[in-house]
Amino acid sequence: MGGSMSTEERKRSASGNGNGGSSRKSDPNDSGGSVSSSNVSRSQTSDNSITPAHDFEWLQRNKLPKSHGVAYFLPPTDKEVDRYQMQHELLCIAFGKYSPHIAEVLTPGAKVLDVGCGSGEWMCEMAIEFAKVDFVGIDIANIFPISVKPNNCQFKLGNVLDGLPFPDDSFEFVHIRVMALGIKTERWPELLREGFRVLKPGGHLQVMEADPMVYNCGNAKQWFKGVCEMLAARGLDPFVGPKLHVLLSEVGFTSVYRKTRSIPIGWCGYVGKLMLDNTVTAAKAGKATLSGITPVPVNEYDQYIDSIGRACANSNAYCNFYSSWGKKPLLNLASSASNS
Ligand SMILES: C[S@@+](CC[C@H](N)C(=O)[O-])C[C@H]1O[C@@H](n2cnc3c(N)ncnc32)[C@H](O)[C@@H]1O
Repeated sequence: MGGSMSTEERKRSASGNGNGGSSRKSDPNDSGGSVSSSNVSRSQTSDNSITPAHDFEWLQRNKLPKSHGVAYFLPPTDKEVDRYQMQHELLCIAFGKYSPHIAEVLTPGAKVLDVGCGSGEWMCEMAIEFAKVDFVGIDIANIFPISVKPNNCQFKLGNVLDGLPFPDDSFEFVHIRVMALGIKTERWPELLREGFRVLKPGGHLQVMEADPMVYNCGNAKQWFKGVCEMLAARGLDPFVGPKLHVLLSEVGFTSVYRKTRSIPIGWCGYVGKLMLDNTVTAAKAGKATLSGITPVPVNEYDQYIDSIGRACANSNAYCNFYSSWGKKPLLNLASSASNS
């Protein structure tokens, strides 16, 4: 997939058999996701071959740390990291990496926070495009790169539901993408308020989510309906995506906009192929939780999910993604009123 790498490729390059030790393309002028190999921490052995440093420890880790209030149930495995990369490519095709007007705040010296940054794909690409902007990512799973990353990227391990560990008015841009499986319904306003707090006045927040319902999917409809019901029973809001622009306004953001994209699943060329792969892989990753709502024994779960994928492709199914963004007003009217 253009611009992204599979975990196998990351492993190969980490062990020095790939791109001169870098896990991405080594041409620093290549805007398609390259990292200068001078950023790469690696150790030299006596025969001068390159061995990986501690960069890739996380590849063996496949459990989320136990942490209070965490609802997210997809395990941070290599396969999931590959899926995040694929999903990143898909969402960049559908929406672009950021809403165009956000570029206006990404001036030299600006700071960007990526909440629930996953494997850091979005951040690393943005950091290359905006080389004079500083990027910080936070995630509860340590699946982000430790040293194979642009110099202007930093990653932090943490549960964003404990509050964002940054002072007020720190960032020009806060980015939140595909976290709906990790944020319970009642915690969304709190998370967006935290995003508002850490933004500088005039800064922007962008949040992008899908709803997990798949439309026009023939006899797969019951299964997707069951997924939505199961998420709601876990206290998650499967349909938070289409409401986020309202929540942004309620939290105090102004100039709030929303863009919706319907994405084909298993038809309509490359994007449809990526979306089918994404849907089937995510459903398989969630087996431990989702097999309970599936009408076959657990040992037939994967084949059942493949049949759901085929039903989507055969009936021209699609799902919806929603991107909403807003601006923190230059003057915080709420706090100036309560201070007077
Ligand atoms: C589907 S991935 C999306 C990753 C990234 N935002 C992207 O768009 O590529 C969701 C991420 O949210 C993280 N996450 C879920 N709950 C979290 C929490 N309470 N605090 C921090 N990260 C969390 C997961 O570990 C996972 O990496």
